Amino acid sequence: METYRIITLDFLTLGHHSPITNHHSPPTYVEKILRKFDLRDPKILDLACGTGTLTLELTARGYKASGADSAPEMLRIARKKAESCSSSVTFFEMDLRTVQGVPTYDVVLCLYDSINYLLSLRDVASALAGISDLLLPGGLFIFDVCTENNSLKYFRDFTECEHGDGFSYTRHSFYRPRDRMQINEFEIRFDDRPGRWNETHRQKIYSSNEILSVIEASPLEMLRMYDDSSFRPATDNSDRIHFVLRKPPLTSS
Ligand SMILES: C[S@@+](CC[C@H](N)C(=O)[O-])C[C@H]1O[C@@H](n2cnc3c(N)ncnc32)[C@H](O)[C@@H]1O
Repeated sequence: METYRIITLDFLTLGHHSPITNHHSPPTYVEKILRKFDLRDPKILDLACGTGTLTLELTARGYKASGADSAPEMLRIARKKAESCSSSVTFFEMDLRTVQGVPTYDVVLCLYDSINYLLSLRDVASALAGISDLLLPGGLFIFDVCTENNSLKYFRDFTECEHGDGFSYTRHSFYRPRDRMQINEFEIRFDDRPGRWNETHRQKIYSSNEILSVIEASPLEMLRMYDDSSFRPATDNSDRIHFVLRKPPLTSS
């Protein structure tokens, strides 16, 4: 598997999460979900956290959050970002497909297409099983996937050039319906270095029925499927779907 450097992704995800703020700012979508499901003061693991934007945002808002990702380069930048805002948040290396641990978290997050980076349903099933092990009974797993609708509407075949702080990149995105692969090819240049850097991101586009069948066979139970970042039920027209799953609570005998 390719491991991702962050520069492009961090730049691309800036619009996804609100900037790091404090607990007086309006609630993020994740916070709204936590409130809706009555999770007070949850211990959170932000899986596939990238450079930790959301992890740090949640920490700034007073949550106990840690981050994990499989890409050392992402984690290096996440730790640097934490240091620069004097946050003691922990980031660790973990692959979604081989998550292991004892039940420790009230909430596990895996957001912004990260599940689409798992290229087979078998890998998605492994991720759900491992995440279930990390969750305390009654705990939530919240993740999103981007849909084929999204790929066909926005990423069928386009090229864009963008400039960030100290770098620029060209991105060629295309969708391959035959194997439902969304491919993003980046060519990155840094202002202070010669040469170019190429990186290809491959995302598998699953149907909601495929995801539902994996959930059905997992130890987790399905609670909600939301259309994009709303509380409306997902439909066939959704571009992105947020899933909320729960580890079954312990029942008293
Ligand atoms: C689109 S980024 C999302 C980052 C972050 N969750 C956010 O919302 O900004 C996808 C992330 O998934 C990570 N990733 C991809 N495959 C992974 C795997 N098998 N295990 C853990 N992380 C993975 C990448 O390194 C990258 O940081």
